[in-house]
Amino acid sequence: MPTVVILGAAGRLGQVLVPAFAAAGWRVLAQSRKPLPAELSRLSGVQQLACDALDRAPLHAGARGASVVINALNPPYHQWERQALPLAQAAQVLAHGLGALLMLPGNVYNYGSKLPVRLTPDTPEVGDTSKARIRIEIEQRMAEAPGLDSVVLRAGDFFGGSGRGSWFDLVVASRLDKGRVVYPRPLDRMHAWAYLPDLAQAFVKLAEQRERLRGHHRLHFAGHAVEGQVLLKALQALLDKPLRAASLPWPLIRLAAPLMPSWKAIAEMRYLWERPHRLEEEALRKLIGEPAHTPLPVALSESLAALGMAPGRREAGPQPA
Ligand SMILES: NC(=O)c1ccc[n+]([C@@H]2O[C@H](COP(=O)([O-])OP(=O)(O)OC[C@H]3O[C@@H](n4cnc5c(N)ncnc54)[C@H](OP(=O)(O)O)[C@@H]3O)[C@@H](O)[C@H]2O)c1
Repeated sequence: MPTVVILGAAGRLGQVLVPAFAAAGWRVLAQSRKPLPAELSRLSGVQQLACDALDRAPLHAGARGASVVINALNPPYHQWERQALPLAQAAQVLAHGLGALLMLPGNVYNYGSKLPVRLTPDTPEVGDTSKARIRIEIEQRMAEAPGLDSVVLRAGDFFGGSGRGSWFDLVVASRLDKGRVVYPRPLDRMHAWAYLPDLAQAFVKLAEQRERLRGHHRLHFAGHAVEGQVLLKALQALLDKPLRAASLPWPLIRLAAPLMPSWKAIAEMRYLWERPHRLEEEALRKLIGEPAHTPLPVALSESLAALGMAPGRREAGPQPA
């Protein structure tokens, strides 16, 4: 039975990767500090590695036999400067020691604040924001590590799955019960989203190609590239009621940024809502065939249901940041 270690298994992506790999017949070693959600730990083939990703001895002992390591760790937004590199390094050392393929869910930060519309794995990377510099360094270390096989699968903003804290649940869907879609604006710019169950399938299919993935690879997952107005209309149709678009209070966020590190981190990301962008996935297709692509209305419906906000369900609402 092939074995995968998922670092950050209780996170947004991790919680979706665990059942996807288990359903595909993998033995899943699911690392997390907090307890795994019960529905995951009950799955056949899933075993929790209850330790900190930085705690080398128990992690390395528990991960024995794995042929794939997925780094789905993510420090809080405003602590990236201090924590992102050590966490990435821990994942890299683990994969190297196991002789395993290291997989990293990449993001679009690498292309900097003036990113072009069309993003391919060859688009030049520009470290003109602190987060871009960190991500570029993480990937560069992976590429340059002698003897390490690694792949970055780059995707847009996550939605779907039961994890909380994404732009989708904290912002876009946060006022649906009040008849509003909060969109960081403007509404006519294409924005890249990744529906997590589809992205998890792409990870499984890629991991199945482990033997072909020697050296370092960078691949893009297209997901759903849509303008704000398309998202608004899709949510309107789904909820069968008129919705108004509201913006984020950017001036207030900027004003509070020096006092609130998490708001500062959010303010730094504003450019991604102003620069239209989409990811091109030809290279991924060559390796795994047509990636899973749930139609947008279905993906949105499932995402709202997972947040307890589907029409007809009790509206639990997203948790605050
Ligand atoms: N979110 C997005 O929209 C998005 C889009 C594209 C790419 N990505 C990338 O995908 C990866 C996963 O993102 P995510 O949103 O799924 O992550 P997440 O839910 O924010 O966090 C994943 C896990 O990281 C662990 N973690 C956080 N800080 C830690 C620390 N200091 N030490 C050890 N573990 C720590 C936590 O696990 P425990 O507390 O259980 O230990 C947490 O559940 C990241 O590399 C992210 O940049 C994210």
